[in-house]
Amino acid sequence: MEDKAVLDKYGLFRAKVPRFTSYPPANRFELDTGRRYQADWLTTLPADKAVSLYVHIPFCRRLCYFCACRTQGTQTLAPVAAYVGTLIAEIQAVKRLLPPTIGMARLHFGGGTPTLLDTELMNRLCEAIFSTFAPSPDFEFSVEIDPTEASDSVLDTLGAWRLGRASIGVQDFEPRVQKAIGRVQSFEQTKSVVDRLRGLGVDSINFDLVYGLPFQTRESLNETLQDVLSLAPDRLALYGYAHVPHMSKRQVLIPSEDLPDTRGRFSLAELARERLMADGYSAIGIDHFGLPNDSLAKAAAEGRLRRNFQGYTDDPCRTLIGFGASAISEFAQGYVQNAVATAGYAGRIANGVLAGHRGYAMSVRDHMVSDLVQGLMCYGRIDTEALAAAHPKMADEARIICAYIATEFSDAVKVSATGLEIREDARSLTRVIASTATQDGVETGSLAI
Ligand SMILES: C[S@@+](CC[C@H](N)C(=O)[O-])C[C@H]1O[C@@H](n2cnc3c(N)ncnc32)[C@H](O)[C@@H]1O
Ligand code: SF4
Repeated sequence: MEDKAVLDKYGLFRAKVPRFTSYPPANRFELDTGRRYQADWLTTLPADKAVSLYVHIPFCRRLCYFCACRTQGTQTLAPVAAYVGTLIAEIQAVKRLLPPTIGMARLHFGGGTPTLLDTELMNRLCEAIFSTFAPSPDFEFSVEIDPTEASDSVLDTLGAWRLGRASIGVQDFEPRVQKAIGRVQSFEQTKSVVDRLRGLGVDSINFDLVYGLPFQTRESLNETLQDVLSLAPDRLALYGYAHVPHMSKRQVLIPSEDLPDTRGRFSLAELARERLMADGYSAIGIDHFGLPNDSLAKAAAEGRLRRNFQGYTDDPCRTLIGFGASAISEFAQGYVQNAVATAGYAGRIANGVLAGHRGYAMSVRDHMVSDLVQGLMCYGRIDTEALAAAHPKMADEARIICAYIATEFSDAVKVSATGLEIREDARSLTRVIASTATQDGVETGSLAI
């Protein structure tokens, strides 16, 4: 049970803050930085270090009203087939700049709805990737799956390409909530996809749930959780609904007055958290939960948890290469985001240029702050002296920021000889503390709870 007076004092029920899937957050990426550095950063990757790959599929058959992801609606496969052709051309263009023997440790298809591809398109795309990047011994392939858009044949195809983890969108099972968010999806549909995936040997199943949706109540969420737990997912992500109609136009279909207020959201988040922990899940970072055998839960317990654009990960690779419109790559030197609009992205690849556009070149200070944010977001902790030792040129600055957090949030953090830790009963303040420490984006992100 969290201490509401402390949370209120530090602005939890008012603050809007970034999700910190990167530091700096993507809203600080600069125009043309990607274009300037992408080729250099790809060319200098070490040959003996595997990379991770992210492939973005920005298409959906239906556009759920609540969704803030970059995606566009389509009723036919024609634009998807053209896009897959562009993706393959981009993969080949990037590969020409890489050391010839570079391998892949992780492959993730996200979107949008990757399972919109039919078996032929899925096979073409996988063939292009697997023939270009050799899977390393600890290789893991994961895909985001909308159960209403996942045919048996496409699931079987993914199984044949060694799919190991499926991330399944559930959001909420309550019919009134589903109708209000434009996403009708039955429990039976979801169960049938889970059963098929398990039959194919996919041994890690993740569900995405969202709290703070229109008409959601403690009772309705409890029933959703009951259904969810009956399917025993290995892992769950529990996201607070980000209502950002100025950015995601279709969200105007969700009237603000149908949404729970911030205290209602907090109560829903707390209910879900307590229920999941009572059912044997452990908390991972700020919004994930895993059964003891789950690979992310193990990584968290062993100090290997990291945060990247997909949320939390146990991915050991320093480099993530993103393919597709709006996809973000992460290099030791900084970030590169591909052209966002599908047409602009395809035009660049057709013209023989790389798709990187916006981006960010990290300074020595940025690297230190990024590690500090990782510590907060993954473990609610900063080991100040280890941080200072890892960034000798920024050691004083690291100590100053930690002292600032300790002073500003004195009722929410415990200070020790080596650093500081957010108190267990104030963990929901994590993003508020990170944004205050970095001076980043207060009022530009989504609600802190
Ligand atoms: C990139 S989407 C792809 C999911 C997949 N197409 C599906 O429908 O199952 C991944 C997840 O982002 C989350 N998400 C999307 N929009 C959101 C919003 N406005 N607020 C919070 N979470 C959101 C949802 O939980 C969703 O399952
Ligand atoms: S939730 Fe999934 S299916 Fe719905 S619009 Fe977003 S990406 Fe598409």
